[in-house]
Amino acid sequence: MIEQTLVLLKPDAVQRGLVGEILSRFERVGLKIVGMKLVQVDAELAKKHYPDALIPIVGGKTKKDWDAYGIKYTESVEDIGKMIINATRKFIQQGPVIAVVLEGLHAPEIVRKLVGTTGPKDSPPGTIRGDFAHLSLGYASTQKKGAANLIHASGNSEEAKKEIELWFKKSELFKYPSVHDVHVLYAPYDL
Ligand code: CDP
Ligand code: MG
Repeated sequence: MIEQTLVLLKPDAVQRGLVGEILSRFERVGLKIVGMKLVQVDAELAKKHYPDALIPIVGGKTKKDWDAYGIKYTESVEDIGKMIINATRKFIQQGPVIAVVLEGLHAPEIVRKLVGTTGPKDSPPGTIRGDFAHLSLGYASTQKKGAANLIHASGNSEEAKKEIELWFKKSELFKYPSVHDVHVLYAPYDL
């Protein structure tokens, strides 16, 4: 049940000076930082991180907003998705990102809960996207922009494993005891 997950503080989070603020939310629930670095993403890494398989998923999310906001369009979900994925790949290259691997019980699920939903507009107060942003995916798409939603977090355990391998070498990941291990893992004498 102890898992690792990947978090990226996207260029908007770094440029807005929110790195400490966001990372403190993970630290305060007891997740352990086991890897961390500042990375300038290039086109190749952007494409590997946001693969073509995401096209129908991101297209569907924007279509939902366009339908809800009465935005007229003739494009298919596939075409909308292609536009969004290109914009999203560009956005992640706009400036350096902080890449982090967090470890803890159910880490991918816990981190997604703290992050909120994809669109900041629909992310509840208390979540990172809900507390520090407000834009909708529908609006961002009308500007042909990848939504500036501050943070990436692996969607599930399987995605986390693939993404950690993509972003980190084994030698960049660390094992060390944290004070939370006492309370979370119930192994005080192993420290
Ligand atoms: O990041 P998350 O897992 O919540 O969403 P995703 O569906 O995996 O999409 C990846 C990223 O693409 C999002 O975080 C947004 O930055 C961007 N995106 C967007 O700009 N507009 C959409 N309709 C969907 C995604
Ligand atoms: Mg995702």
